[in-house]
Amino acid sequence: MSKSKTAEASIAELVREIAEHDYRYYVLADPKVSDREYDALLSELQTLEREHPELVRPNSPSQRVAGEATKLFPPAVHAVPMLSLANTYNRDEVIEFDTRVQGILERAPNFGYMCELKFDGVAMSLLYVNGTLQRGSTRGDGTTGDDVTPNVRTIRAIPLEPRTASPYANESFEVRGEVFMSLEGFRKMNREREEAGEQPFANPRNSTAGTLKTLDSHEVAKRPLTFVAYHLRFDDPKIEASEKLDTQAKRIEALKQLGFPVSKEVRVVNSIEAVMEFAMHWQEARESLPFEIDGAVVKVNALREQETLGSVAKSPRWAIAYKFEAKQAHTRLNAITLQVGRMGTITPVAELEPVALTGITIRRATLHNADEIERKDIRVGDMVIIERGGEVIPKVVGVDATKRPKHSKPFYFPTVCPECESTLVRPEGEVNWYCENPECPAQILARLTHFASRGALDIEGLGEQSVQQFVEVGLLSSVADIYDLHTHSDELLALDRMGEKKVSNLLEGIDQSKKQPPARLLFGLGVRHVGINVAKLLIKAFGSIDALRDATEEAIDAVPSVGPEIASSVFTFFRIQKNLDILDRLRKAGLPLHETEPRVAKNLSNEFFVGKTFVLTGTLPTLTREEASAMIEQRGGKVSGSVSKKTSYVLAGEEAGSKLKKAEELGVAIISESDLLRECS
Ligand code: IVH
Repeated sequence: MSKSKTAEASIAELVREIAEHDYRYYVLADPKVSDREYDALLSELQTLEREHPELVRPNSPSQRVAGEATKLFPPAVHAVPMLSLANTYNRDEVIEFDTRVQGILERAPNFGYMCELKFDGVAMSLLYVNGTLQRGSTRGDGTTGDDVTPNVRTIRAIPLEPRTASPYANESFEVRGEVFMSLEGFRKMNREREEAGEQPFANPRNSTAGTLKTLDSHEVAKRPLTFVAYHLRFDDPKIEASEKLDTQAKRIEALKQLGFPVSKEVRVVNSIEAVMEFAMHWQEARESLPFEIDGAVVKVNALREQETLGSVAKSPRWAIAYKFEAKQAHTRLNAITLQVGRMGTITPVAELEPVALTGITIRRATLHNADEIERKDIRVGDMVIIERGGEVIPKVVGVDATKRPKHSKPFYFPTVCPECESTLVRPEGEVNWYCENPECPAQILARLTHFASRGALDIEGLGEQSVQQFVEVGLLSSVADIYDLHTHSDELLALDRMGEKKVSNLLEGIDQSKKQPPARLLFGLGVRHVGINVAKLLIKAFGSIDALRDATEEAIDAVPSVGPEIASSVFTFFRIQKNLDILDRLRKAGLPLHETEPRVAKNLSNEFFVGKTFVLTGTLPTLTREEASAMIEQRGGKVSGSVSKKTSYVLAGEEAGSKLKKAEELGVAIISESDLLRECS
C-alpha cells in the first residue's frame, strides 16, 4: 500500500470519528471521550492533513474554520420564502386562531397541534445537497438573506454531513431552525470579554445576531453558538409526499435521525386548551431552561392540513406564536449617578424608586453609556421601564413618555469625574467616557479591591469595605502598601471593627497571597485588556513579569491570541515609572514575579533529542499531543507526521494505529510517554 493511501484511510477514519464525537457532544450532550482525547484526535488529523494537503476533505472537522475573512456576505435567495409567525400576547387570540383553523379544516379527523418552544435566537436556513452542507443563510427580508456559510460551518451542533443512519442522508433538503447561545455560554463569554477589557454583549440574542454577521469566521468559532432544528423540506417531491413524513412530529423525528439537534420540549396535543397549558407551563418554567425563549409556538401537526390552510402575507395560517411578556417593571428614575471603574471607565447608573421584579427588589440599574441615554432620551424624574434579561443586572430599556414631568430637561453627561473632578475624556470611536487621573480615589479603591479579589491575589479579609477604611486613614494608596501593613498593626488595631483576631487573619491572608502564581499578580496589577486568561498567556510566553516588562511591543504582539491593542496596553504600562516602582516594591515584599519552576529554555537542549525526528501516534496517558511535541521541540527534537526510515522514535500511546504498525515494519524504535518524561527530567 502506498504511503498516501494509508494516510487517506487514516484521515477518513479520523474525520468519521471526530464527527461522531461532535454529534455526541453537541447534539446528544452525551460525550464519550474526554476533551483531551478529542483534542488528540483533532491534532492527529491536522498533522496528517498538513503532511498531505491534497487529502484534506472539505467536510473535515479541521475545515470548520478555514479561509480568510470575508469582505461581504453574498445574497442568498430562498427557494421557498422564509415566513415569520403571527404573534400574540393574548390568550383569546390563540383561541380565535383555533376557531379559524377548525373552520377552514372542517374538523379533520386526524387533527392535532404540535407545541414547541419559541427560541430567542436568529432564524437560519441550511441547504444540504446530496448529503453535504452547501449553504447557511439568514432570513433577511424573507426572500433574500445573507449567505453566512463560513460562519455557520463553525457551529459544531450543525452537521457538515448528515448521519448515515438516516435513509435521507444523501438527499437534498433544507433545514430551518434557530441559531442561539445557551445562557451559560453567553455568561462565560461575557465574563471573558469583561476580563479582557472588551464590551460585554447585552443579551444572548444580540450577541448571536452580531456574531453571525462577523466577517472573520475564526472569531465566530470562538463564540458559543449552537443550533436547534424545527423545519425540514426535501427537494424530491416524492419524498416530500411520503407518508413517513406527513406530520411536523415525524419531521422532527427525521431531523433527529439526520443528526440535527431538536428540542426536547415538543408535544403533540389534541386541543387548544392543552396548547395553552403547554404555553402557560413554559411561561412559568422558562427560567429553568438553560437558554432563553420568548414564547411558545403552536403548529397544525399534519402537513396536508398546513397546505390547506396556506399562508397570508408574510406568515402561515397554520401556526401562531404566543409570546411571553418580558420581565419588566415601571418605576421612577430619581437620579443618574456615575460609577468610576478601576480603569477609569465611567458608567452611568440609574438610581430608582425601589421596585420588585422577578422576586428581587431593584434599586439601581445600568444605563450603559452616554449614547444609550441620549438615544432613549432618558431624563431624571422619568417613569422608566426596567427589564432583567439574560443577565443578572437589570437595565433601563425605555421611558414611558406619557408620564414625563413638565419642564424636564435632557440629561447632560457630566464633563468632570464625580470623584476627583478631573476632566473626562472620550477617545475617538469609543462609547465610554474615562477619568484619566490615576490618583482618582475611586480608581485607587477599585484597583486595590481588584488586586485583593478572589480571581487575583485572593487576600482574605481585604474586601471593599476594609480597603475603603484603610485608604481613608492613609494606610493604603497603592497595591504595594498592602505588603507594608504588617508594620502598622497598632494602627490597624485602633480602627473600628478591627479586633486582634481580624488583624492577624488579615496579615496571614496577605502573607498567603505571596504564594499566588505570577499570572495572578499580573492580572491583579490591572493592566487594561489583561484579564486572567491573557495574563496566563503572557506569563507562559515570557516566563516572568520582568521578561514581559523588558519585551518589545512587537514581541508581545507576536504571542498567539494577543493582539496589538493588548500589546500596546502592556507595553505602555511598563513604561510608567510609578508602575515600575510598585513592581519593585512587590518584588522586595517577596511576590512571585517568575514562574516557580524555571521555564524550559535553550539550556534544555538534550542529547537524546537533538537532531532526532519523532512521530506521535495514539492517545498518551497524561500529555496532550501539543504538550509532548513542545517538550520534544524545546529540547532540540523534530516532530513529524508520518513514519519513514528517517524517523528516530515513534512515541506511541493507546489505540495507536497504522503508524505504529509502520514503525514496527521499518524497525523504528518505539517509546512510551514514560520514556519521554524520563528523558525530559
Ligand atoms: S417556525 C413559518 N418554530 O420565530 C414559520 N419558528 O417569527 C417559521 N422561532 O423566524 C418558523 N422558535 O426565527 C418556528 N419552534 C419554532 C421557533 C421559531 C423560534 C423564530 C424563527 C422565526 C420567528 C417567527
